[in-house]
Amino acid sequence: AKIPVSFRLNGAPTTIELAPWTTLLDALRNHMGLTGTKKGCDHGQCGACTVLVDGQRINACLTLAVMKEGADIRTVEGLAEHGHLHPVQDAFIEYDAFQCGYCTPGQICSAVGLIAEGHAHSAEEIREAMSGNICRCGAYPNIVEAVKHVID
Ligand code: FES
Repeated sequence: AKIPVSFRLNGAPTTIELAPWTTLLDALRNHMGLTGTKKGCDHGQCGACTVLVDGQRINACLTLAVMKEGADIRTVEGLAEHGHLHPVQDAFIEYDAFQCGYCTPGQICSAVGLIAEGHAHSAEEIREAMSGNICRCGAYPNIVEAVKHVID
């Protein structure tokens, strides 16, 4: 049986009925049409599914949607505001911080969360703090540069 869950999704109050075992990742992609959040491994190992829940970076593939009752969820689709890209999005473009782009929504959400956490400053600290976000193209140097640009 499906059960209702209500949360804020990219700023909008949202209620949806879901089977209780539905991951937040599948809920976003398959039930709410938000396919910006990517499924890489579906096992918590790649970071492609990173979204922000109450400002914290989480792997949506490891999270049951119904556990997020009352939460504030933000996906890559919800980062731009008032017609302007988020500064992290601008920096990713400026520093060419992607190649194929599959990991990019997760990288960007992870970077937004990391910057809010406020304790990564050097390239090494950024790299370490974003080690859960895998990039198969190896765009790490540019990703780190982009994030560093926003922090500096
Ligand atoms: Fe969630 Fe890989 S899809 S960590």
